[in-house]
Amino acid sequence: MAVYSATTTAPVNIACIKYWGKRDTKLILPTNSSLSVTLDQDHLRSTTTSRADAAYVKDRLWLNGVEEEIKPGGRTATCIAELKRLRKELVEDVDSAAPTLSSFSVHIASYNNFPTAAGLASSASGFAALTASLAALYSLPCPPTTLSLIARQGSGSACRSLLGGFVAWNAGTLDSGLDSLAVQVAPETHWPEIHALICVVSDTKKGTSSTSGMQRTVETSPLLQHRIEHVVPQRMIDISTAIRNRNFDRFAEITMADSNQFHAVALDTSPPIFYMNDVSRAIIAVIEEYNRVALLPENGGKRKAAYTYDAGPNAVIYAPAANMKEIISMIIHFFPQQEVFKDSFGLFGTDGVGVG
Ligand code: PMV
Repeated sequence: MAVYSATTTAPVNIACIKYWGKRDTKLILPTNSSLSVTLDQDHLRSTTTSRADAAYVKDRLWLNGVEEEIKPGGRTATCIAELKRLRKELVEDVDSAAPTLSSFSVHIASYNNFPTAAGLASSASGFAALTASLAALYSLPCPPTTLSLIARQGSGSACRSLLGGFVAWNAGTLDSGLDSLAVQVAPETHWPEIHALICVVSDTKKGTSSTSGMQRTVETSPLLQHRIEHVVPQRMIDISTAIRNRNFDRFAEITMADSNQFHAVALDTSPPIFYMNDVSRAIIAVIEEYNRVALLPENGGKRKAAYTYDAGPNAVIYAPAANMKEIISMIIHFFPQQEVFKDSFGLFGTDGVGVG
């Protein structure tokens, strides 16, 4: 008997222009466009295997070996249903000899190759890998941008992990969400000199989930409206230009400004949300000082590193590979308790917790 199975991987992505706020919570349509860098497949990624079998009685999901409930009408159920619908419409209705996999239940197993304890967001790589593996199982003739419409309904930021390199998620304007998708601004080969250093400041789960944090911000923050209307549209244009021109100084300036505005918007929420802690702020101070010195005319007058923080205290530092050695020794100097556990990539914990 035929076994219908497919395995795919998807990497983590880290935003330079942050997505924060939904205009439609069911379809996951954002209040602003965003832009991220998809990290290398070799490092932080989710690997997902999907199987369809006429003998399965219901759809089931395992995350890192532990079964998770698929809630009816929930995000995972929505993604699975959408992919089954595409299988039926694009494959089975066209080729009546194709096996009717869309009527079979699926079993999905997903693993992250990075420590869950490291406190890194895994929903982006997880929903991207789930979408890609079902699309492969179903032989869907869809490009990644089309699949991004489905991954988006699992976790907004997941839509960007279906593409490599520098990726924009266009907010779109349609109520259907059909124009709210991810597009590649530049492939990874365009600017391979840019590396990411992940500083695990804390491995504890974040206090306010992105879903409830965004909702509260949309409801209460006047600064968010300013950001949506007057700040993000120009930043999307400017950072895309900086990427195309491989202008790291400008890329760094915009990335840090946007991280800071995202955290300002979180603070502008009522009650306020604090995602960064004292160590996060100390890392900002170190990078700001590093750039202040680099910006002096006698030192070349250009920024050498950029920090960015998602909905948690962990820092991601983007920098040209040539500066990484210096940056790592600087961080080790100021935060001596850290543990470098993947030095080729520079993933480490600044509090020396057992994330190695
Ligand atoms: O996709 P979510 O619900 O995990 O939200 C992600 C939000 C940020 O990571 C803070 C920003 C972003 O654009 O990834």
